Amino acid sequence: MKKEKVNKIFESIANKYDLMNDLMSLGIHRKWKRDLVKHLDLDKNKNNSILDLGCGTGDIISNIIKSKKNLKFQAYLVDPNIKMIEEGKKKLKQKNLIWLSSYGENLPFKNNKFDLVTMAFSLRNVENIKKTLNEVNRVLKKNGQFICLEFGKVKNLAVNSIYKIYSENLIPEIGEKITGNKDAYTYLIESIKKFPSQEEICKILKLKNFYNVKYYELSFGVAVIYSCKKKNS
Ligand SMILES: C[S@@+](CC[C@H](N)C(=O)[O-])C[C@H]1O[C@@H](n2cnc3c(N)ncnc32)[C@H](O)[C@@H]1O
Repeated sequence: MKKEKVNKIFESIANKYDLMNDLMSLGIHRKWKRDLVKHLDLDKNKNNSILDLGCGTGDIISNIIKSKKNLKFQAYLVDPNIKMIEEGKKKLKQKNLIWLSSYGENLPFKNNKFDLVTMAFSLRNVENIKKTLNEVNRVLKKNGQFICLEFGKVKNLAVNSIYKIYSENLIPEIGEKITGNKDAYTYLIESIKKFPSQEEICKILKLKNFYNVKYYELSFGVAVIYSCKKKNS
């Protein structure tokens, strides 16, 4: 089962997760996450309710805290992996944050609760993308925003061949040196290959009751930000 496999992987690398992200991406994942926050559509005049799904060690909420100083919000940081949550709790101790362990396919929230749902590099890891998007849609308020950051398909052939060599050869080696778990980083590369293209994800989002579906490619499409809103009906 994918759930157990993915859970074991993140359990084994949790304490090196942040370091590995910096090493593998040469720090570029920090800029991608800042870019995600620039696309958020939140109301400064109310207390916003936010869900960060597949929160890992909490980078997205950390970026929201840093860049939206006057924003009033309460955030749920949700991830099935307790070890990742424990790492996140060491970094973020604000009182408006609630950490919870749950899978995205079955969220413990009532309908129409959140103004915003974010997912960064976690949709690729869920066992069932469509079920997870149904849940994201269900817990969002009408016209609430869903924003997702994921690895994409690089369309430029020259860039893609360099990216392929780097990701297939170097990343598992770095992963083995730093975490002792080469398989975790072989899984990472395989999961990126299997994940649907930008166009396919947009199609799925439209089918799952989202409108205003847009995507923004970062670093030649190595990463992609998807933004959309929950339909009224
Ligand atoms: C690559 S990490 C991303 C963490 C964080 N969002 C970030 O950007 O650094 C992927 C996260 O997805 C979580 N995950 C795995 N399966 C999931 C599921 N079914 N539902 C929600 N999150 C899941 C993992 O436990 C892991 O913490």
